[in-house]
Amino acid sequence: MHSEIIDRATEFVKNIFENDFGGHDYFHTIRVFKMATYIAKKENANLQTVQLVALLHDVDDIKLSPQTHENKDNARRFLRENGVDDSTVESICQMINEISYVGTDSVAPKTLEGQCAQDADRLDAIGAIGIARAFAFGGSRNRKMYDPDEPPKMNMNEEEYRKSKSTTVNHFYEKLFKLTAMMNTSAAKEIAADRERYMQNFIEEFLAEWDGER
Ligand code: ADP
Ligand code: NI
Repeated sequence: MHSEIIDRATEFVKNIFENDFGGHDYFHTIRVFKMATYIAKKENANLQTVQLVALLHDVDDIKLSPQTHENKDNARRFLRENGVDDSTVESICQMINEISYVGTDSVAPKTLEGQCAQDADRLDAIGAIGIARAFAFGGSRNRKMYDPDEPPKMNMNEEEYRKSKSTTVNHFYEKLFKLTAMMNTSAAKEIAADRERYMQNFIEEFLAEWDGER
């Protein structure tokens, strides 16, 4: 059973993401929504707030919608049009602001609701789906899969991270392998540990095949 605003938010994101093939498609948001719901229930967080943050978290993403990113125009418009009060709109936009991984400038959201949504978004970046999304994103941005002469750049700040044109294998070291330790909730930590092992095995196999060892 979803409330009406959740159904409308689902419809809203469907229209926005219909044509994304770079790892931010509608189904990414739906997986984040489902995972966020699961985590929120385990953590006794406010379910509707977590669900709205999960559904709206990418509608003003800097890479997809740079002109609305700063003021979260899409999220704000949706929430206002659906009768959400001003202070709730502000706190939801704040949680969306805090959600992204931006290298050493990443933050843990201040509210439990923001933390649940951030964990859900990050869980979708790791494991089998995370691997698929990373290569889909890399391909969509004309990134190399791998280049043995290009070492990963650890500890990039937000500006360096956003500018970086790293290979997809480097992205595992620059972001994906860091996420497990950054999970906020214990529900997410448990899931992340399994997904992390799966990714570690994948990269080990990838590099062994690359070097002709298997
Ligand atoms: P999220 O939607 O989880 O906030 P991002 O918007 O940063 O994540 O990126 C979307 C997807 O693309 C994620 O799975 C992420 O790991 C992947 N990605 C982001 N940057 C790169 C990159 N430089 N190379 C490969 N994959 C990337
Ligand atoms: Ni996302």
